Amino acid sequence: MRYFLGIDIGTSSTKAVLMARDGTVVHTCAPAYDFVTPRPLWAESNPADWWVATQAACREMVAKAGGAANIAAVGLTGQMHGLVLLDAAGQVLRPCIMWNDQRTAAQCAAITARVGAARVLQLTGNPVLPGFTAGKVVWVRENEPDIYARAAKILLPKDYIRYLLSGEYFSEVSDASGTSLLDVARRTWSDEMLEGCGIPRSWLPELTESTVASTKVSASAAATTGLLAGTPIIAGGGDQAAQAVGCGIVKEGIISATLGTSGVVFAHSDRYRVEPQGRLHAFCHAVPGKWHLMGVMLSAAGSYAWYRDNLASGVSYNDLNAEAATVLPGSEGLYFLPYLSGERTPHPDPLARGAFVGLTLRHRRAHLTRAVLEGVTYGMRDSLELMRDLGISPSTVIASGGGAASPFWRQMQADIYGATIQTVNATEGAAFGAAVLAGVGVGAYSSVEAACSETLKVTSEVKQGANASRYASLYPGYRSLYPALKAEFAAISRAE
Ligand code: XUL
Repeated sequence: MRYFLGIDIGTSSTKAVLMARDGTVVHTCAPAYDFVTPRPLWAESNPADWWVATQAACREMVAKAGGAANIAAVGLTGQMHGLVLLDAAGQVLRPCIMWNDQRTAAQCAAITARVGAARVLQLTGNPVLPGFTAGKVVWVRENEPDIYARAAKILLPKDYIRYLLSGEYFSEVSDASGTSLLDVARRTWSDEMLEGCGIPRSWLPELTESTVASTKVSASAAATTGLLAGTPIIAGGGDQAAQAVGCGIVKEGIISATLGTSGVVFAHSDRYRVEPQGRLHAFCHAVPGKWHLMGVMLSAAGSYAWYRDNLASGVSYNDLNAEAATVLPGSEGLYFLPYLSGERTPHPDPLARGAFVGLTLRHRRAHLTRAVLEGVTYGMRDSLELMRDLGISPSTVIASGGGAASPFWRQMQADIYGATIQTVNATEGAAFGAAVLAGVGVGAYSSVEAACSETLKVTSEVKQGANASRYASLYPGYRSLYPALKAEFAAISRAE
């Protein structure tokens, strides 16, 4: 039996999936590591930890595959936007500045002023956001000049692991889309953006589409991973594009809603289109020659985890959900704003805050729980509404992530989104998508679309229920709250 190995360099673990050609998941593992927050709004990770975890995951997978010869190809994916800075000898110069690091607002504003906001949006499909890579490079130049003086290469997290596996510098267009340095329509590095940021083009790796076998496992990496030297390494994709492949979001008209720590609404697009105010990310897809639109909430199921850990400690999610089901939709006038880590879509505001609004003596824990679930789901609907404004109006949404496991939350999603909710058999997310891309890369499937139809099946479906019209009348109330509180959130941050 020959398998495909998908490896996801995640935020807190490296997840690996060993997949058979029919989509059966033979084994998964997820060696963990930590990231650190040296200051408020900062987030950094040690690339050496990813490599230790990747080597351990590969060795485990080789054993489960019955030998390295049974691994036909490796596909890579990972957290997007992170800056890995290397010197000319390929040594890491400082910890990775991660996707959830918000330190670069000033640098992003300066790049935008230099290139022009409209031109930035046209070229890169997005504003220059603090989470994205370019501002981080400029931050290092301004704040760590000694390190910057030694820099010779910029890599994204999964591409650093590709470098260690193969000795070669390569990236691909879906992950490169999150750097603010890609001409997203032309799927190539943008000289204009590079000039605007003052970054030499020679620092960037060569780019391919996501299904290209750009590199091979080197003899030295074979010795520490147990993989066979020469095993093809397929380009892969940014974690959201790979996650979407793993849910079958590879055709126009299909949308996914992923409720993990962050929340992502993801739509395939056959053509490059940009939300006029840049509130949705417009990125290259991992499907060759295609694009996608994406809304990212920074604290989705993460809000629910925060709520449980701090206000309902020791109670299981199942019990909390059952309790929430006993109160009426709308939680009797209680709203929750899920901006616990600031927000990206639809409010790109690092200073936004979480809030319960509308508390009365009547409200019990069940109301608070329901309000949290409703607030997160309204936040996801905000992204869906931006897509509807662009004419993307699906009747079905594929739900994934931890939030998709609960039938109660799936029904709430159907009612609040105004769409049928389906789930699929693959629940391993981005690593599964990377394994699918690996299979396409070595010709086991004729295309990404064919691979998805051969490996994915619908496993559940819920339609809008009786609460849908009630939620439709409550949603405008939710939408009115962020604009009303925006200035207060900024004032609270200043006063801290
Ligand atoms: C996508 C994003 C996150 C990270 C980490 O834009 O910021 O999904 O890729 O998972």
